[in-house]
Parts: sequence; structure tokens; C-alpha cells
Amino acid sequence: MAKYSICVLPGDGIGPEVVGCARGVLDAVSAAGGPQFAYDEQSAGHGTFLEQGHAMPDASMAAAKAADAVFLGAMDVAQIPPGGGDPLGDMRIELEVAASVRPSRTIPGIPSPADDIDCVVVREVTEGLYSRDEYQPDDDTAYAIRVVTREASRRTARMAFEQATARRRARGARSDKSARVTAVHKVGVLKLTDGLFLETCAEIAKEYPDIIYETRNIDACAMEMVREPGHFDVILATNAFGDILSDIAAGLAAGLGLAASACIGDRWAYFEPVHGTAPDIAGKGIANPCATILSAAMMLRYLGEDAGAAAVEAAVLEVLADGQIRTGDLGGTAGSAKMTEAIVGALNL
Ligand code: IPM
Ligand code: MN
Repeated sequence: MAKYSICVLPGDGIGPEVVGCARGVLDAVSAAGGPQFAYDEQSAGHGTFLEQGHAMPDASMAAAKAADAVFLGAMDVAQIPPGGGDPLGDMRIELEVAASVRPSRTIPGIPSPADDIDCVVVREVTEGLYSRDEYQPDDDTAYAIRVVTREASRRTARMAFEQATARRRARGARSDKSARVTAVHKVGVLKLTDGLFLETCAEIAKEYPDIIYETRNIDACAMEMVREPGHFDVILATNAFGDILSDIAAGLAAGLGLAASACIGDRWAYFEPVHGTAPDIAGKGIANPCATILSAAMMLRYLGEDAGAAAVEAAVLEVLADGQIRTGDLGGTAGSAKMTEAIVGALNL
């Protein structure tokens, strides 16, 4: 029986609650004869900063690197003062993450503004406008340096084309949806940085002749996502553009309550819901655990546990489609525990 070590970083706000729910689902997968998990729970986030003076202690980073995968709740990064640590940014760099992979699609039974979105945003997460290289020479001016390197662009582009290839295979030959990668830019203005990004994406595209490769300006892409969401398959973007577009995609699909993500590199990977810490509902036991449970499914797939991943996804879809047990954000009255219990009950392994 496969056994995996999972470094768990519950974080702040609703993070510990939703991570607890997802662990309940993973435990049910184990109990049904699936893989076993050895959890190593570590501290990170704003609460950790308040207790220990740093939001990502060395011990937590070392544990993350030692595990087969890292599983994260949510972190209040905006509350951490400069110099207090940046757990997400540090992990993305230290774990050599090639991209954050963020799928969005409409879910039967869940109302959404777009009825045919099924796309994945593949977002560079170590540089770009979020390079954290900022300075303020005087009181009236501040700069942020937008960094684009060929190496990071190449890694992210490759991840996008690999995703497109996997999605094409999963959809099967009979699907009428084209496998396509849309690289997003503003090269008319950001001539050097996005010039380099696009040049690199086009190079990688040549290695994947079966995948349609196209480019869009960021503004046009945002509009087209709203007007014609069904067009998009894999959206390949630099850090800030991808941050925004992944929220647009989640909003057009089933909302942040169901948006899962994976930050994947060659050696390490971490998994987290796209949503934040939701301080207004933290501690009340009413958060929607689905985004975190679906992130756990992405972790299972990364670990090679395809059957477990598919079973967890199917169980979430079944409970959502049934509609009787739902959290408040989805128009129901169930708490997180009740929803998790229903998902565990629907697991078919
Ligand atoms: C996300 C979040 C983070 C990001 C923040 C909290 C640093 O918005 O994961 O999308 O921009 O990467
Ligand atoms: Mn974001």
C-alpha cells in the first residue's frame, strides 16, 4: 500500500477548518483501502508571525521540502508586515514551483454566470510584477520591478502545454473542444518583458504541434472570457495577469468556494484552495470546504493516485448536484462538517 508524507500548513482564518475537512476526506480514502498518509502539521501564516516573529519558520520550510507533497489552508499574507516573512512567495521560490494550475468549470447544479466554461489558468508564480522587488526613492514615487526570465517562462509554458495535452487526452477524440493554449500579454506596452515571455512561449509551442497556440492581450482576454468563455482551454499567463484571470475564471464558473489549485514544480508541489482566510466566517464552522477538498484531489492526482482523485471529485460533484446539503455560499444551510460528511458518504472506492 502506498504511503505518502504530507506536510500540512493549515494557516489562518478558515484555513485550519477547511484543511480539517479535507483531511477527513483523505482519511476516508485511506480507510477504503486507498493510499495512507503520514501528516506532518507545521506552522505558517500571520498567526505564526505573531507567535514566532516570522510567518514561515525554517522548520516549516524544511518540513515542506522533506514531504512528498504540501497541503495548505489559507494565509493572511496581507497582515504580515514587511520583513515578517512571505510564506506563499517563499514557498513558490524555494519549492521551485513552475506554475500554479487553477482549473475552473461550471458544475451541474451550481448557478454561474457562464454556462460553458471549462478552462485552466496556468500562472507563473515566482516573478513578474510580484517579484517583490520594490523600492521607493522618495516620498512621492515608488517602483515595482516586473521581472521576466526565459527560464521561468519556459517552465510555465511547458506546464501549460502539458496540461493541454492531458486535458485533450482526458476529453477524448470525440470532444469538439479544441486543445489550445492562449498566452496572455501586453506586449504593445511591456515590449521587453512580454516580448521575452511570448518569444519563449512560441518556442515551447513548437514542441506541441497538436495543440493550438494563440496569444491575446490581457484586456481583450478578460473581455473575451466573459463574452465567450467556452473558447478557452488553457490560459498561460505571467504572475499578476494570471492572478486576476484565475479569479475571473473562478467567478465565471462556480465561484471561489469551489476553486482549487496546485503549485507544481519538478521536485515539489503544494496544494491550496484559491480563496483566502475569510476572517468574517472563521471559527464558525460554516466555510465551504469544497475548494480545499478538490485541492486534495489534485494532490492525489499529482501523487499518482488517479482512482482516489477521481473518486473525491465525483463525490463532491454528486453532493453538489444533489443540492440538499450545501454551505451558505451556495445557498444552503449546512455547516462545513455536514458537507464533508456528505462527501465522505458519496465516496465510491
Ligand atoms: C492567490 C493569492 C495570492 C497570490 C496572494 C495572497 C499572495 O491572491 O493565490 O491568488 O497573488 O498569489
Ligand atoms: Mn489571487
